[in-house]
Amino acid sequence: TIKACLFDLDGVLVDTAKYHYIAWKELADSLGFTFTEKDNERLKGVSRMASLDILLEIGGLSFDDAKKAELAQSKNDRYVEYITKMDSSEILPGALDFLKECRSAGIKVALGSASKNAMMILDNTGLTPYFDAIIDGNKTSAAKPDPEVFLLGAQALEARPEECIVFEDAEAGIEAAQRAGMRSVGIGSPETLGAADLVIASLEEMNTQRLGEFFASK
Ligand code: G6P
Ligand code: MG
Repeated sequence: TIKACLFDLDGVLVDTAKYHYIAWKELADSLGFTFTEKDNERLKGVSRMASLDILLEIGGLSFDDAKKAELAQSKNDRYVEYITKMDSSEILPGALDFLKECRSAGIKVALGSASKNAMMILDNTGLTPYFDAIIDGNKTSAAKPDPEVFLLGAQALEARPEECIVFEDAEAGIEAAQRAGMRSVGIGSPETLGAADLVIASLEEMNTQRLGEFFASK
């Protein structure tokens, strides 16, 4: 039976991808190169420092660690300016209803996010009370596609990997779920998330009945 649902945050429960994009784009502009929305796909689910490395590679630039720390900090300062203004209107369609449904069905809920800003986002959008466990970028040492974040989530919920379902919008996150031995539901387009066990456009398409059918079929 399904014991736990593990949710990625950015792009699954809340619409923060746009703020990450704007903040990275501003950094790229200041360094003198163009960063497109297509480039941004590569940063989804990827940790802050690894994202910076990809960004600099796109710009054909390289810096020492001290300068890189400074650049990552300035991106984060901009990003935090946006997310401090977030409220519940930025919860993605279907997310809140599905979280509530999971809880009333007795399914445990955990967050599995790479973000070090996850707590602020959950608090500002009012989502914190829906979680039994919160694993974020401050609690992990290895970034997705490493399975650590989801394994820690399952452990906190006392669930075995085969009793868990991961909801992810990033390719790296789907791979992390697979490496953790968990079923995965991709939120987004089948083109990028083809590796997931099921792909849906948004959580509006999900409910506990459909989840049960999916779980039984995979
Ligand atoms: C999520 C986002 C990534 C972001 C990462 C780290 O996985 O999808 O785009 O880089 O979190 O977020 P942070 O808030 O710690 O910079
Ligand atoms: Mg995501």
